[in-house]
Amino acid sequence: MADTLTAVKSIVILISGRGSNMEAMVRRCAEERWPARVAGVVASRADAPGLALARALGVGTSVVDQRAFAAREAFDDELARVVDGFAPDVVALAGFMRILGPDFVRRHEGRLLNVHPSLLPAFPGLHTHRRALQAGCKLTGATVHFVTAELDHGPIVMQGAVPVHADDDEATLAARVLAVEHVIYPRSVRWFVEGRLRLEGGRVRQLDGLPQWLT
Ligand code: GAR
Repeated sequence: MADTLTAVKSIVILISGRGSNMEAMVRRCAEERWPARVAGVVASRADAPGLALARALGVGTSVVDQRAFAAREAFDDELARVVDGFAPDVVALAGFMRILGPDFVRRHEGRLLNVHPSLLPAFPGLHTHRRALQAGCKLTGATVHFVTAELDHGPIVMQGAVPVHADDDEATLAARVLAVEHVIYPRSVRWFVEGRLRLEGGRVRQLDGLPQWLT
């Protein structure tokens, strides 16, 4: 029994808003019986709608409100303290709209994951769908990657592509990409907690040879 318990990995999810990726991960973790549990959801805003969603899913929540900290270092220190309280094996950024400082990133290096709504390295940063439309992209998508100190950058775990339709606007494109995020992010985290990912020379290999893309 003790062995079974210690094998269960602890996932902490960091959010700032709606929390749909968080919800997808919590549900998939339970339904597919991952060797893990979502131990906590931490929000950078007290009014993040995802907080109520997390509580409804039976997950404990904490808030480290970015507006309460004048200096980024102070916010990062408090965030580190709260996140450490969950003894995480994985820290998953899911719509966490706050740039993390190098100390936080270093502390969780190799277990810090992010989902971004573009096919990185295209369109890091904000307004990805607007920029993809303006550029006339015919394909766009989402990326799950390990986090480095550089914004929206780091070894890619998985990508999912979607077509851009001629009559798309930001909202229709965002919805199509989000549906892909809800598939690739839980799958990536499941692989991680099952020990099926290996970082080799800055690239990520899925040890079973499963496709690290979705079309
Ligand atoms: C998602 O589209 C996620 O990829 C994006 O914010 C949204 C959060 O939605 N993240 C970023 O842009 C980070 N660079 P959610 O709160 O419903 O998961």
